[in-house]
Amino acid sequence: MSGSSKLVSILVLHGPNLNLLGKREPGVYGSLPLQEIDSLLKQDADTLQAEVFCLQSNHEGILVDHIHAALGVHDGILINAGAYTHTSVAIRDAIAAVNIPTVEVHLSNIYRREEFRHHSYIAPVAIGQISGFGAESYRLGLQALVQHLRRI
Ligand code: DQA
Repeated sequence: MSGSSKLVSILVLHGPNLNLLGKREPGVYGSLPLQEIDSLLKQDADTLQAEVFCLQSNHEGILVDHIHAALGVHDGILINAGAYTHTSVAIRDAIAAVNIPTVEVHLSNIYRREEFRHHSYIAPVAIGQISGFGAESYRLGLQALVQHLRRI
């Protein structure tokens, strides 16, 4: 991706249980519903001269399909794979296969939580990871991803 005037296209993927944000363990994940996170990202995208396409699925294979479909369509992927972060070789392989610059985000700080959340299959194929800032993790991740894409 080169030049600074073209809109950068970002696929935002939300994994399992994130459709319940707002109701789901608000002490851990905050009280903002997913749709509000998506609208914040859309507002940020305008400022960043980017566009975001937000999708949520509770199904591993559907997330893999969306990653494949991003090839030739989106410049970057911002992903919160939820619990699949810690289990999914398939999502990791899909990101590696399409080779689209990807930033991993988490609302909670996964390293302050149970040990099974400390390992991410996504991290080795991501540009970077932002974890622990609630909805801000997504916003910081989007900013970092767009800046990265404008540099390459
Ligand atoms: C999460 C952290 C995961 O461990 C958990 O399974 C989630 C949400 C986060 O955003 O903090 O579903 O990805």
